[in-house]
Amino acid sequence: MGVDIDGAGSVNFALSGKPVFRKTIDELKELKKSTALPFIVKGIMCEEDALAAVEAGADVIGISNHGGRVLDSTPGVADVLPEIVKAVRGTKKGKRVVITADGGVRTGFDAVKMFALGADFVLVGRPLAREAVSSGVEGVKRILEYLKTDFKIAMIMTSCNTLKDINETILIKGS
Ligand SMILES: Cc1cc2nc3c(=O)[nH]c(=O)nc-3n(C[C@H](O)[C@H](O)[C@H](O)COP(=O)(O)O)c2cc1C
Repeated sequence: MGVDIDGAGSVNFALSGKPVFRKTIDELKELKKSTALPFIVKGIMCEEDALAAVEAGADVIGISNHGGRVLDSTPGVADVLPEIVKAVRGTKKGKRVVITADGGVRTGFDAVKMFALGADFVLVGRPLAREAVSSGVEGVKRILEYLKTDFKIAMIMTSCNTLKDINETILIKGS
């Protein structure tokens, strides 16, 4: 069960009579307590929110800018991911929290980069949604195959035999 904290500014929900608002750590704790299921807090883009989610008891934190759809000039997920991972892993509770990343992942190469920057899982949104609508199951299979092929090539070319081998040493930072 989860909450997308970056939905806080949505006018769409308000228009349909379900106003949204920013949540405090205590309100997140209340949500966590309300379920025995793993609790996901998605839409985290800074250390402060990541640490608050961990403090609230999140089992999974989703580093995501909602596909760039909720706030103009928001940085890219890849830009903020390393510092968030470092901050979260530096806390006792944060060591076992699962970290997902999404936003702008379009190829297997992109996915490898997100893993290298510290994500445990990398998620893909619109490419799959578009194929599902335009071509159904076959289209979704095609995109997954395309992602997998590039992912394997990137692993071979960076000498990564397993997912665990993918880390920031395979990246060269741009200026
Ligand atoms: C049309 C649309 C609606 C979305 N609605 C939600 C939503 O209600 N809750 C949420 O957490 N994310 C929502 N997202 C964001 C996705 O969950 C995901 O973070 C994003 O699509 C990932 O970026 P990508 O599409 O570039 O891969 C939505 C995205 C799109 C394109």
